[in-house]
Amino acid sequence: MDRASVYLETFGCQMNELDSQLVTSSLRSLGYRFTTEPDEAGIVLYNTCSVREHAEQKVWSRLGELAIRKARQPGLVVGVLGCMAEREGEALIQRMPVVDVLVGPGELDKLPTLLDNAVRTRASLADLPEARTLSDTPAERKPDLTLLRSAGAVALQGNTGRRSATLAAAADTLEGLDLSRTVSPEDHAGSAYVRITRGCNKFCTYCVVPFTRGAEVHRPPDHIVDECRRLADAGVLEVTLLGQTVNHYRFEHGAAVTIGGVIQPQKGRVYASADGTRRDAYAGERVTTFADLLRRIHEEVPAIRRLRFVTSYPRSFGDDVLDVIRASPRICRYLHVPAQSGSDRMLKLMNRGYTIAEYMEFLHRARAALHQPEIGRPLTVAGDIIVGFPTETDADHEATKHLLAQARYKNCFIFKYSPRPGTVAIDRYDDDVPDDVKRRRNNELLALQQQISASVSAEYAAAEVDVFVQGISKRQAKVDRRPVSGGGVSLTVRGRTPDAPPDHIGADADCGACTTVATAPATRESAGTPVQLSGRTDGDLIVFFDCPTGRSPDSLIGSIVRVRIDECRPLSLHGTLISGR
Ligand code: 5AD
Ligand code: SF4
Repeated sequence: MDRASVYLETFGCQMNELDSQLVTSSLRSLGYRFTTEPDEAGIVLYNTCSVREHAEQKVWSRLGELAIRKARQPGLVVGVLGCMAEREGEALIQRMPVVDVLVGPGELDKLPTLLDNAVRTRASLADLPEARTLSDTPAERKPDLTLLRSAGAVALQGNTGRRSATLAAAADTLEGLDLSRTVSPEDHAGSAYVRITRGCNKFCTYCVVPFTRGAEVHRPPDHIVDECRRLADAGVLEVTLLGQTVNHYRFEHGAAVTIGGVIQPQKGRVYASADGTRRDAYAGERVTTFADLLRRIHEEVPAIRRLRFVTSYPRSFGDDVLDVIRASPRICRYLHVPAQSGSDRMLKLMNRGYTIAEYMEFLHRARAALHQPEIGRPLTVAGDIIVGFPTETDADHEATKHLLAQARYKNCFIFKYSPRPGTVAIDRYDDDVPDDVKRRRNNELLALQQQISASVSAEYAAAEVDVFVQGISKRQAKVDRRPVSGGGVSLTVRGRTPDAPPDHIGADADCGACTTVATAPATRESAGTPVQLSGRTDGDLIVFFDCPTGRSPDSLIGSIVRVRIDECRPLSLHGTLISGR
């Protein structure tokens, strides 16, 4: 076991993947090494997700396994990062004393210090004779939490994360983590995430995110543009802007908060003016809207050949944003805009704040503005649906089927409702839809979406598309039978490898099963068959093609190539390389 080597496993969403990348870059700069073999690591970190119970169960079981290992190797350091740390708090360490370090998503900048403390403490324990540790009774091992806090093993926002007085401070320290991001060409395969907003203020009744990630805070546009520029300078061609509700991005220049000791503008609020009316900003104050931000990045960083953003909220998606996308050739014609249900009654119970008529009005407006297949620029849309929300009837379920048919998503993630502690829904409504009914509805929606995805896919027959090459296909990795190793390409999309059906269509993609997969750069053909590469279109459709004989796959990975589509499947397009760098 190498005490300075870290195994980091990421569960859940793209926001977590970005957090893991930032943590990796900050720990690397301090001399930690990363390994993809947990057994070799002296430090095991889990960056966790709390959105569904299943995701948390996976982590509990991993921690149980680590407890057995730690009895043998007392020097092992275990850290739980992310939403589960924040949601469970110190109770997590009480239940699983194997955990040395607990860091919420709003405190990740503190990880290096905490880890350093833990490594030192554990190193001294490791020198004890093994028998001493093994003879510990569980009671003796129960951690003294006051001690842990003062020893700097726990960093959580707690419920202070939503208090406006501490919001500035939270933004302040976290901004440092994003700002200190080091980008080197080895860290990416041409693609990177950039956060624009932290937290969420929507409080959908089923969702833990507003509690674990805290209140919505928007990053200063200069920081975002600068980060995009640095990524582009390091060779990144594709940037995905991240936020829980990206289209709500709004930065009011002039409302001050300090970041790293420097006064910075802060996201505005609604201000009461002297006459008692409410307005969005002080007179003369400059505001950067989401449309402005997109336009700035597109204009100021032309080296970014693909700019996308996730996730959009169906409300308040203005025509100004659609106009910017339409006018900007390098902004992808792709929207991920979850409806969550096709039933107005469910949407009300979920506190989503829109009706299906309003949702469809938005989709029609977006398609009218952006869907231009005749010039090779179709708009593709992806969605999320929750099945089996409390009181959901067959009629509500039928309404969701109707929505899928109307919305024509290229793919839709379908989740079984999972009651989450701390949310409004778990307190207010019984989880009264039996699991077999949830499963049946889930399967019906999957089957329907499969047909819809097939018909969206079929429109690409014989088309020539630009493909951003992400890496070798998963099938190919299996053929090669090479161990997965780090330093390569992160192929995860919402925690999924791009060729991992059926979740791409949207099985109940329990994020507990979603872990980041890295593949080694492909360098050889196996048994005379060409290496299969995978990538994505501008509209986020998965494309597979064979690397031509004599070409090195590495020369194509991370670049944009032209592919002619020979075969359309519901989940993917298959084609032939026409041209590439
Ligand atoms: N149960 C099931 N799915 C959920 N989601 C969020 N909270 C829950 C929950 N409690 C889904 C929503 C969201 C996606 C990220 O996860 O569809 O868009
Ligand atoms: Fe959760 Fe709703 Fe916020 Fe999305 S918009 S993160 S579902 S509360």
